[in-house]
Amino acid sequence: RKIKVKAYSTSANLGPGYDILALAHNAFADELVMEIDKIHAGNRIRIIGNNVPPEAKKNSAGLPLIKLFNEFDIRESVTIHITKNIPVGSGLGSSGSSAAASIAAANELFSLSLSRDEMIRFAMEGECASSGTPHADNVAASIYGYVVSVNSVNPPRAYNIKTEMDLRFMSIIPDVHIPEKTKLARSMVPFSITMESGIRNSRNLASLISGFASGKRDLIRDGMDDGIVERSRLSLFPYYTSIKANVMKKNAVGVCVSGAGPTILILYDNETDLHGIEDKIDQIMRSAGITYRRSYSTLSGGME
Ligand code: HSE
Repeated sequence: RKIKVKAYSTSANLGPGYDILALAHNAFADELVMEIDKIHAGNRIRIIGNNVPPEAKKNSAGLPLIKLFNEFDIRESVTIHITKNIPVGSGLGSSGSSAAASIAAANELFSLSLSRDEMIRFAMEGECASSGTPHADNVAASIYGYVVSVNSVNPPRAYNIKTEMDLRFMSIIPDVHIPEKTKLARSMVPFSITMESGIRNSRNLASLISGFASGKRDLIRDGMDDGIVERSRLSLFPYYTSIKANVMKKNAVGVCVSGAGPTILILYDNETDLHGIEDKIDQIMRSAGITYRRSYSTLSGGME
């Protein structure tokens, strides 16, 4: 038996929601096929794919599966074929989507009846393969789809933030490769913050969530602003400050760093001067000497 899962790109944090908020979009999707197989030279999890680490414990799809096999005492062997379309290391949830797809496929293949939150518990382990620490925001968005908030991590509990808004996204994906980017970006986040900046970020987070829920774009415009995590990581995406200031002037709904970057996510609607934004970004990136590509998408409902 073979199970095929398609998992979409995701953007985590959304400004003030570090490790809390994320959304799934249809900019890119990975495909994962899992089948029960014979044991290959003592190797119970065989991974085949373009540009992915073949060793299960170093692979975002393999690592959560090791944990799942141990916990459920699954003795069979599987082969996983991964077709990666989400750009790796770009901040678009590439590792999270592999982890989520792997757990969703195993859930079906071995009839485990895991809840979505239980799937998050395993899938978030997959993030350790690339970032050294588990974080649940990207995998929650992969599993739940739409806009999601992670309200507890131990045990994981996530919720969809219902929105009627016709959200549209432009991703600015720079052509830069930062080795061990997520690990590095997480090490840049401060250990402590002042009460003042904590309150400011909480206020923004509340505005952002109210904005999605009520459909009031001004609440998102005010709320999608982070003075802690994005700021601490600015040296990884120095073009961001200028993009943000200019794009907001052209009436975007919001701008944030997608996950740990370097991709920048722009939310726009009919009131936004989209062509003005495209021209401005071309200009900014040209003078920064960075080539990039743009991708346009809308919200995705999650795995298929
Ligand atoms: N919340 C995580 C971070 C997402 O910003 O480190 C990484 O994709």
